[in-house]
Amino acid sequence: MNRAFIFDLDGVVVNTAKFHYQAWKQLAQSLGFDFPEEKGELLKGVSRMESLEIVLEAGEMTHLKAVEKEVLADSKNRLYLDFISGLSNEDILPGIYEFLLRIRSEGYRTALGSASKSGGLILRRLGIENLFDVIADGLSITRAKPDPEVFLTAAEGLCVNPGNCVVVEDARAGVAAAKNGGMHCIGIGKEEVLKGADLILKHTGLLLEADYKSFF
Ligand code: BG6
Ligand code: MG
Repeated sequence: MNRAFIFDLDGVVVNTAKFHYQAWKQLAQSLGFDFPEEKGELLKGVSRMESLEIVLEAGEMTHLKAVEKEVLADSKNRLYLDFISGLSNEDILPGIYEFLLRIRSEGYRTALGSASKSGGLILRRLGIENLFDVIADGLSITRAKPDPEVFLTAAEGLCVNPGNCVVVEDARAGVAAAKNGGMHCIGIGKEEVLKGADLILKHTGLLLEADYKSFF
């Protein structure tokens, strides 16, 4: 079947969004300022370096040199890798494993489309790498969401036309990336954040009841 689902990772397959936020918050504190929870939403789907800019802006520290920014991004990543070192299949978000099995048994192809350079690593830790035909993550792309590059790379790897792909996303930038790529999009989370998605579900468990066949 020439139809596919492309899954974002953080906040869709696994709740690593909270670890990204905690690592950035810890970095901000080490620099002497706070990065409040309400700003955490701005980091979702955004690349590591762009996230750093958002965090530094909150601390009025955007004047740092490029090399200093690299060091800070590396420190955040070390904190993050530490947080995710204990991930296991118990951390897969509700319904995702069952939904992957179901759509694959129905003949849909599946891919990961994540901005994270740790995307492939996390799928291996969760023990579900074999449920994805293609992995497009931060290591395979140069342009971050809302640019559609990561989803178009996934679709190309799957040999499926963008119009026959459904992206599952929890971030504003991710919904925009899917639509910019000419794909359908299921948003997971709050309506006010996910405007533009074709279908919005409050949580991943609802994917199992969703009328996804009407997209094709
Ligand atoms: C996205 C997250 O999936 O990956 C962002 O939503 C994160 O919060 C981005 O910044 C990049 O992740 P990493 O692991 O490459 O720093
Ligand atoms: Mg996400």
